[in-house]
Formats: sequence, C-alpha cells, structure tokens
Amino acid sequence: AKTVHEQWDISYQFTHSDCVRKLAVTINGGTPGPTIRAVQGDTVVVTVKNLLMTENVAIHWHGIRQLGTPWADGTEGVTQCPILPGDTFEYRFVVDRPGTYMYHAHYGMQRSAGLNGMIVVAAAPGSADAEPFAYDGGEHEVLLNDWWHKSTYEQAAGLAAVPIVWVGEPQSLLINGRGRYNCSAMASDAAAACNATHPECAPQVFAVVPGRTYRFRIASVTSLSALNFEIEGHEMTVVETDGHYVKPFVVKNLNVYSGETYSVLIKADQDPNRNYWLASNVVSRKPGTPTGTAVLSYYGGRSSPRAPPPTAPPAGPAWNDSAYRINQSLATVAHPEHAHPPPPRADRTILLLNSQNKIDGRIKWAINNVSFTLPHTPYLVALKHGLLGAFDQRPPPETYNHTGYDVYGVQANPNATTSDGLYRLAFGSVVDVVLQNANMLAPNNSETHPWHLHGHDFWTLGFGVGRFDPAVHPATYNLRDPVMKNTVAVHPFGWTALRFRADNPGVWAFHCHIEAHFFMGMGVAFEEGIERVGDLPEEIRRCVSTKGGGH
Ligand code: C2O
Ligand code: CU
Repeated sequence: AKTVHEQWDISYQFTHSDCVRKLAVTINGGTPGPTIRAVQGDTVVVTVKNLLMTENVAIHWHGIRQLGTPWADGTEGVTQCPILPGDTFEYRFVVDRPGTYMYHAHYGMQRSAGLNGMIVVAAAPGSADAEPFAYDGGEHEVLLNDWWHKSTYEQAAGLAAVPIVWVGEPQSLLINGRGRYNCSAMASDAAAACNATHPECAPQVFAVVPGRTYRFRIASVTSLSALNFEIEGHEMTVVETDGHYVKPFVVKNLNVYSGETYSVLIKADQDPNRNYWLASNVVSRKPGTPTGTAVLSYYGGRSSPRAPPPTAPPAGPAWNDSAYRINQSLATVAHPEHAHPPPPRADRTILLLNSQNKIDGRIKWAINNVSFTLPHTPYLVALKHGLLGAFDQRPPPETYNHTGYDVYGVQANPNATTSDGLYRLAFGSVVDVVLQNANMLAPNNSETHPWHLHGHDFWTLGFGVGRFDPAVHPATYNLRDPVMKNTVAVHPFGWTALRFRADNPGVWAFHCHIEAHFFMGMGVAFEEGIERVGDLPEEIRRCVSTKGGGH
C-alpha cells in the first residue's frame, strides 16, 4: 500500500460552471475538485489550506468509514472544530475498500458553493474484493450536481428567516461541473455575467471506442435535487452502489439521490456516426430546471466530438412517479458472490419520524419532534474529554406516536424542540433504524429524503409506502441479500428500514443529504465506543478549551 498525497488550497474564485459568473468555493482554483485516485489499502493524506479569508471550512470523505480515525471524518461540530481562515489541516485516513465515493465540504451550506469531488478506489491486485464484472474500454466519471446563482450565504439566511425564503429550484444541473444557463433569458443588467462560450461551461465529452464496454462511475453531490440519469440510446447495467457490488440489473435510466454513487456498464454498440446525450433530470420535485447534459461521442465516427447530438435530450421519467423509483430501490440487492448477510435480529430499534414543524415561527425539519442542531464543541472532543456541558445530555426519543400518526395528513406536531442531544449506542450492538416519511406542512406533499450515515455501511432491509407497523413490516425485511449502502432514499409517504453494527468507535452524523434539510435540523448523531477512541489530534480541538476537562 502506498500513500496518496493531495495538497489543496481552498479559496473563493469567480467561476462559470453554467456560463454565469459566480463566486464558488474552489480547490486549487477549480470546481469540482480533483478526483482522488487510490488503491484499496492506501493511505490518503490531504493537506487542506483554508484561504477563504472570511469563512471556516471542513471536508468530509463521504463513504469512507474512517476505521480507527474518527477525527478525520471532516464533520464540523461532530468530529472536529472547523478549519479557521489561514489554517492548515491534515486529513489522513486509509481507504480500505474499493468503490466509488465522494468528498464535499461539511460546514454550513458550503457543499453547494462548489467544494466537492469524487474518490475512486481500485481493488488491490488479488483482493477478494475484486470486481465481479469486466469492461474492456476503461472508466469514465460522472459527478452530478445542481447549481444556484445565489450565494449560500443568501440561501442560509433565507432558510432561517421568518417567513422562510426557500432556496427554490436550482438554475442549472451540472455534469462534471458543467452546465448551460440560457444567457438570453437573463435580464440585460445580469446578462453581462453570462458568457455562453466560456470554456468552463462547454459540455463534457465522453469518448468511447466502438464495440467496447465502459464503466461509468456516477456520484451525486446535489444540494436539493433527486436526479434521473440517462445515456441516450445505451442501456446501463448497474453493478455497484456506494462501494458494494450489486446483482447486475439493466436500466434505461437511473435514479440517483444526493450522496449516492453507482457504477454502470455500457456497451458502445450504437451508430458511431452521431453523438448521444448524457442527461440528468430532476425527479421527485416538480422540475423547474432544464436538463443537465454532456455528450457521448464515438472514436472514428463521422460526428465531431463537440457536435450536439441530433436529437432533443432525454426528458427522463415522470417526475412524480414514486412507484418507479421504489422499484429501483427494491431491485438493488447484493451481488450473490459479495453478499454479507446481516445479523438476523437487532438489539435495538429506533423509529425516526421525519416531519416538518414550526418552532418559534420558523419552519424546521424534525426527527421525532426534535430539530437537530450542531454543538459548538464537537461531540468527539466533548465526549472524549468529559465536557458534559457541551451539549444536551438528554437522549433524543427512540420513537414517535407510531400507532396513531397519520402520515398522509398535515400534522400539527406541537411542542417540537431543537436539541443537540445524541443517541449513544452500545458498542458492537446491532441497531435497526426505520425512517418514516410523512406529509409536510403543505397538504398532499411529501418529499424524498436521501439519508446518509457516516462511519458505517448499513444493510437496506426494506422499503414501504404508508405508516410503518413494527408488528407487521419487519417480517417483510430482506435478510437474504440486502445490499449495503451508506446513503438510501426515504420515498414520499414511505418508510425505509436499515440495520448496522455499531462497531466503529467515534461519533457519527446520520442525516438527510439535502443540504437545506440538514441545515433546517434533519439529522441525528450516534456515539459508540468512545472509550476505545485513541488520543485525539490537537488540530481537531482548536475551538475548545480542554483545560480542566477530565482526562
Ligand atoms: Cu455527504 Cu454528512 O454527508
Ligand atoms: Cu430531506
């Protein structure tokens, strides 16, 4: 195993991701940042220098479990103090498993300002984790994103305002940081900032050799949008998700939620003399954003690689067809040769109701009526040093009124509170979490929430529509070949059940990956095995005075 070194300067730069000039948070001047490439077992060292001047930063390595290095998870408020302007911080961790992962800022709403990228880990030669599939054409990477012209400051202030100013639908969808805003639709005073021929917004071209099979690694770092991804005219065979091999299944288009990754295989077997669209479309919310596009082009064909395909970009499936999306969730199961069956039963079951509430006149998201806030002192530091005053010591509720709750009606959910309390899990225990979705404050409305667990992979045991019944639904769980993931969708008015082993000492966030939802309280935190965590690096504790803290 080797060490992969990255040296990153984080700074604000004017960029033209969708042809419109925007201040973005960049890595070494660009957004998205570079793909980190490593081999299973390698140590990744990223030296981050915060040159933002007026803003803190922290970077999360999404999908990397941080076994033995919980302080390198990059989650501000949970595992570290933020990296202050001018400071340098070194992330050092081992990538123990092959697969497709991502990284992104985990401070405020900075992820949507452009600080994101992919992590690709190849299987070590001879590893038992080698891919159970072959491709002779090579790999392409597809990073999906959504993009706003407003700054994240303006978005965050709007979300906290009374009345709320919602972030709204994105202006553009990006593929590998490239989108296409229609400059002529802008008011003339703003149009000066739009440059349709700026090289930064020229669509990405993916070149393929006729007859070969390619692996496309797809990741979504969207702030809000659930996306449907399609390669025009080419079926995709899904083979991996979140670093786990799946029983291959063929799709015309693929739903990808924020925080998820997939690998698909495609065969370059179409007419090589024309180009094809790669397209991303918003699903689950009523789309207000044009299709995100890139181009697939055949080597040796008669079409110039940059020529737009002769067709209109694919429009994707009906945005409100949740049954279509649940079917994909159900079709995603473990590859037979790489199934790790879950423990047969859980030691503890936590039912988490996702609801929208009003607290002091502000619209919030709450979990069992508790809207999550991050403590100033990171949990990891507070727990390790016995700083009990650092956060609410009352544990959040294990369940909600699950026999009487009407998930289809608008509920008052009175007495909701905000809290930074956390769940403490017995080390090594098996934990089931059932995420229950419900109606929001507006009638006949329920959204998709992609939940992401730090520090673990979980088994996805089941999905259902309506109210989860603990006396009935566990009998329907897939205990035979559930796929392991780190991010999973909770569908509108539905529930999702997952199981994990609390065997990674540390403190781990578990939250909706929609940036605005997490900001509005849609998350929880889990502690396990804190007594097994080694000495914390000094660098994560810079916002804490630990003098007098009980060592
Ligand atoms: Cu990719 Cu806590 O997030
Ligand atoms: Cu959400």
